[in-house]
Amino acid sequence: MLKTRHLIDPMDFTVEELEEVFQLAGQIISNPREFSHICDGKILATLFYEPSTRTRFSFEAAMLRLGGNVLGFSEPNSSSVAKGESISDTIRTVACYADIAVMRHPKEGAPRIASMYTDMPVINAGDGGHQHPTQTLTDLLTIRNVKGRLSGLTIGACGDLKFGRTVHSLIKALSRYDNNRFVLISPEELKVPYYIINEVLAKNNIEFQAAERMEDVLDTLDILYMTRVQKERFFNEQDYIRLKDSYILDNDKMKLAPSNMIVLHPLPRVNEIDYEVDNDPRAYYFKQAQNGMYVRMALIIKLLGLV
Ligand code: CP
Repeated sequence: MLKTRHLIDPMDFTVEELEEVFQLAGQIISNPREFSHICDGKILATLFYEPSTRTRFSFEAAMLRLGGNVLGFSEPNSSSVAKGESISDTIRTVACYADIAVMRHPKEGAPRIASMYTDMPVINAGDGGHQHPTQTLTDLLTIRNVKGRLSGLTIGACGDLKFGRTVHSLIKALSRYDNNRFVLISPEELKVPYYIINEVLAKNNIEFQAAERMEDVLDTLDILYMTRVQKERFFNEQDYIRLKDSYILDNDKMKLAPSNMIVLHPLPRVNEIDYEVDNDPRAYYFKQAQNGMYVRMALIIKLLGLV
């Protein structure tokens, strides 16, 4: 059983604990029926203060496929949040009804605050531009399944690396495995925050380079992790309009990439991956979305202490 009761930051689990989650996810993929009643009688609460398709649906599908039930909101104004209820009061109340909770919130740190007010496991489903640890579990499981390892890889992260919480979490997580190298592809205005450079990459002597053009570096990559330029994180619409189409991956650019490079994207996409790339066997983003459900099934089982 995992020592950590909550998952707020990707570093809350040790590498060994993550491996346990991935192995369990593999067992679930191979034999889903074996797990179809393991959460009978358990309830998952989904508290989504921001929109979501994959994270909320995959958590709900995960709990339903484990035999449990779900309740929650996808729109905070349909709850007493609209009357001004605090995060601490909301989570204490939800803990009266549910066994485990998932929270997405636009404010960085909100799920951590929630976790401080309850013994019920709380999972961060994305907090502002900060972290998205279950997306990272999804990404790592996909990389591990396709590449057979989580070390010795060159990972290109492309797009909005400033506000892109999935990239922040992924860099943190992959920095714990040996001999990984990062290529950070972004416009000047959307570079990775200094805290990731200083406290994660430089501090751990992880090799990295910055690039502005993906064409210059595509041939060096094992993984290309595309991200959306997120309109909702910009204060100024003009800046968003100027930067939104900085990178568009299409079949011509894919010709520059190695035959065994894989393309990941946390989704949703807007324009950054042309639909024509979907037919390329190196496009793994929908498989990645499916893996998100399996790894969340494993996470729920672990956090509830059921294996
Ligand atoms: N990847 C991801 O977080 O997608 P959603 O915003 O649809 O949940």
